[in-house]
Amino acid sequence: MRRLVLCGLWFATIAGAADLAGTWRSEMQGRGGQPNITTCVFKVEGNKITGTYATAQRAFPIENGAVDGVAFSFQTSDGFQTPPRITEYKGTLNGDQFELTTVILAGAPPRGFGRGPQGPRAFKKVSADVVFHAPPELTPTHKAFPPYQPISPNSYAKTPPMGWNSWNKFAGRVDDKSVREMADAIVSSGMRDAGYVYVNIDDTWEGQRDKDGNITTNEKFPEMKALADYIHSKGLKIGIYSSPGRKTCAGYEGSYGHEEQDAKTWAAWGFDYLKYDWCSATAVYRPDEMKAAYEKMAVALRATGRPIIYSLCQYGELNVGEWGAGAGGNLWRTTGDINDSWRSMSTIGFDQQIGREIYAGPGHWNDPDMLEIGNGGMTTTEYRTHMSLWSILAAPLLAGHDVRTMPDFTRDILLNTEVIAIDQDDAGKQGTRVRKEGPEGQTLEVWKKPLSKGVAVGLFNRGPEAAPMTVKWSEVGVTSANPKIRDLWTHRDITNAATEYTVNVPSHGVVMLRVE
Ligand code: GLA
Repeated sequence: MRRLVLCGLWFATIAGAADLAGTWRSEMQGRGGQPNITTCVFKVEGNKITGTYATAQRAFPIENGAVDGVAFSFQTSDGFQTPPRITEYKGTLNGDQFELTTVILAGAPPRGFGRGPQGPRAFKKVSADVVFHAPPELTPTHKAFPPYQPISPNSYAKTPPMGWNSWNKFAGRVDDKSVREMADAIVSSGMRDAGYVYVNIDDTWEGQRDKDGNITTNEKFPEMKALADYIHSKGLKIGIYSSPGRKTCAGYEGSYGHEEQDAKTWAAWGFDYLKYDWCSATAVYRPDEMKAAYEKMAVALRATGRPIIYSLCQYGELNVGEWGAGAGGNLWRTTGDINDSWRSMSTIGFDQQIGREIYAGPGHWNDPDMLEIGNGGMTTTEYRTHMSLWSILAAPLLAGHDVRTMPDFTRDILLNTEVIAIDQDDAGKQGTRVRKEGPEGQTLEVWKKPLSKGVAVGLFNRGPEAAPMTVKWSEVGVTSANPKIRDLWTHRDITNAATEYTVNVPSHGVVMLRVE
């Protein structure tokens, strides 16, 4: 770049392009406590850029890369999405650094991304002797899978699983002590007796592999077997987390190449539930191998002889509802990660589950992600909507808050046994939207869930003001002449509503009914 001073703008342009060649790295703190590293390896010829764009989990070839002076742009294409996700990156070179802004041009945004531009994210040039770690780690080593054949169900999870999971509140801070204390609080708060029995450890428990390839725990979990015994002694069950890839989402050791061995280890420790999170598996599997990669772990879990609930986490890719059960799953995530906000919860719950009801039933459930109730980012009214909607969706109810410090207003939501009964209804039908009206994102929506006896009805107000809503029994499939109606949040029977019911619904709130 020093030539710039001597030779003017024309040389500056050439120097900018050439200076882009090399390896660039961006480091951010991940929620799991490990750094989240993104690497760009650029080759520059004339005004064309080629090379690799790699996150810790996967590497993409650079497409349509072009440089114009200090400005440059390129794209990546993600074949795991249908249609493929095309992402565009734009940067401006400034000496030994640049900032990169990301826009999704086509396809659904990835986990945790909005639709608009993301970033900018700062990259710095790293010297040639800093090894770009991605390519060797991303090299697949498995044998080709035989053609995918669905397997028969495992007979677990006849109703949607209920429990608690560490990620939403604790992310990388989960440890043995907090899990034990959570189990104590799940018992003393009454959550266990209300059905929340799985205590699930999410990512960041993993240590290295020992010389025989056995997975070990890190210092936060000194003795998994002892922890599982403790959880079982409380009348609870315990869950664990891994990835079909080499690394988990938070950058810890995954199960790639060690599937049977890991399943045996977890069974020996006493685990009852596995969440298997795709993440870096994209680096080692082609899209057409995803089903088989999930089925491989299902078969390994079954071979242990221990009843283990199997939870697929691949964010709804490749229309998982169509094959999640056939790959051995009891539940599968349908979207990217939830966060503790009205926008995230309401978009996932109201908008992104439509049409998936055909895939849900006893033993195999759509999973719109874990509950945020009690984490503080939404109002009590909004958390009531979260609980009601998840129950109408027959969603797994995995609380994600600090149970040790649960105030009464949170307890009243999570422990509403009349609402839990809707979620856990034996018929195992996922509810659907009957109608909606009003501007997009602010709609008034009527939902119904057919029950083994009667129908659950949700009157939801996504708008900014309280609004009266009316439901006719005929539109939610109630045929009895003078039905019995129960309001599941006020815990009162409703009278004088022989054919329809009108009620004021608060902004972002719900009136939830059971009609028989
Ligand atoms: C992904 C999953 C989350 C959580 C984290 C852990 O983002 O979708 O639910 O398990 O990984 O790293």
